[in-house]
Amino acid sequence: MRQGLFITVEGPEGAGKSTIIQKMADELAEKGIDVMLTREPGGISIAEEIREVILNPKNTAMDERTEALLYAAARRQHLAEKVIPALEKGGIVLCDRFLDSSLAYQGHARGIGMDEVYSINKFAIENTMPDLTLYFDVEPDVGLGRISKHKGREVNRLDLEAIDFHERVREGYFMLLDQFPDRITKIDASRPFDDVYQNAFDIVEKFIAERPVK
Ligand code: TYD
Repeated sequence: MRQGLFITVEGPEGAGKSTIIQKMADELAEKGIDVMLTREPGGISIAEEIREVILNPKNTAMDERTEALLYAAARRQHLAEKVIPALEKGGIVLCDRFLDSSLAYQGHARGIGMDEVYSINKFAIENTMPDLTLYFDVEPDVGLGRISKHKGREVNRLDLEAIDFHERVREGYFMLLDQFPDRITKIDASRPFDDVYQNAFDIVEKFIAERPVK
């Protein structure tokens, strides 16, 4: 039975979410909270191998439904092997991307359809949905500009998509915000890092305080 809290972070490329949740996990751990930080696609070796296949810039022949299925497969393995056991122990799981990425990227931006992508993901996740999702919002040109300045970050196959793809990703997230207003909170990630971080941390801290881990 699930007892912990499952918190996911979402957003377009260059929104700064990965740096923010790393800092957040450190700060929560310092406060004595049992927290596990993980990411999608990846988090465990089978899913990291699937990640290599999906994100390899050489794989230009990849069909969009294959892409969606691979993300769902990586998600399933990651949940079964890592996330669900941690939640069952009562911990807080902070996950960099989850289902909403598939709905926004493959469902909306790739044009497969959010309902279609949801249906294969329903098979993969069964009933494990996030308790809280932070969506870091930034305009695609700002986000992509940040990535190109950030040397050392890998440039993946999806980063290489044209700007209108990234506009559609953002539009997909806006649709999800309308659909799940209680679960997803939007954070303006165009502000300076410290402001964005504090905003995000306050939301998570309040959420944990209101729903103590049993
Ligand atoms: P990553 O390097 O982790 O990017 P980021 O720092 O932006 O999270 O690469 C993950 C990429 O995979 C990113 O471009 C978003 C994409 N993605 C999907 O398209 N669908 C998904 O379901 C997931 C989890 C990620």
